[in-house]
Amino acid sequence: MKLNSTNVRISIIPYTAAARPELTQDKTVVVIDVLRATSVMVHALFNGAREIIPAVSPEEALQKSLLYHTNEVLLAGEQQTVKIEGFHLGNSPLEYTPEKVAGKTIIISTTNGTKALNSCLNAKQVIIGSFLNAGAVVNKLTDKEDVVLFCSGTNNNFSLDDGLCAALITDGIVKQKKDAVELSDFAQLLLNAYHYNDNITKSLQKCYHLNLLKQRGFENDVTFCLQNNIFNIVPQMNLINKSIN
Ligand code: MLT
Repeated sequence: MKLNSTNVRISIIPYTAAARPELTQDKTVVVIDVLRATSVMVHALFNGAREIIPAVSPEEALQKSLLYHTNEVLLAGEQQTVKIEGFHLGNSPLEYTPEKVAGKTIIISTTNGTKALNSCLNAKQVIIGSFLNAGAVVNKLTDKEDVVLFCSGTNNNFSLDDGLCAALITDGIVKQKKDAVELSDFAQLLLNAYHYNDNITKSLQKCYHLNLLKQRGFENDVTFCLQNNIFNIVPQMNLINKSIN
């Protein structure tokens, strides 16, 4: 099929270790870590955080924080779902209230999401996706040519929460662009799964990461992160200094 300038090509990266430089090079990349890193970022920025800087490790986060005055920066994140010792905030979106985050730079390190963000710095544009801001993300993508939905996954495995969020975004683009969309095989597969059952909460009943979070007492985080379209913002990463705002 001959492409015209209005066509959107959509491909989906299933998990962080599956990302290769040629998959993201010069593309519009949407990084998705529904549970919980990108949901945290959307919520923090909505609540007035100045910027978010994704670090690949707690050590890198600590080092970067030294560049700021202590009253302007918060260290945040988790390792295998647990808050990092000595850091101000964990990875529960509900912790990121206006009282705590407004005006602050948040330097965050998480097991999967911040690693995904650091592995697509060769993109043309990197934006932050989640169920919370899915509609706004769709609207941002309809005039792009090459869109990559980058699912962070869990410990280098595919995670259904991210996959269904990617499918929901794909569905939104297809609804707006009709035939002017080309989907990779994996994008077709996920879109079919979403069409088979578009009740996200039901579809995720047996999702590994979701159940792990519930077992560890983060049930309220899960409920929060599965809300659709409650924030009309599209955070974007500055690809030189990695600041997201
Ligand atoms: C991550 O980025 O690895 C996740 O958000 C982990 C978590 O659920 O805290």
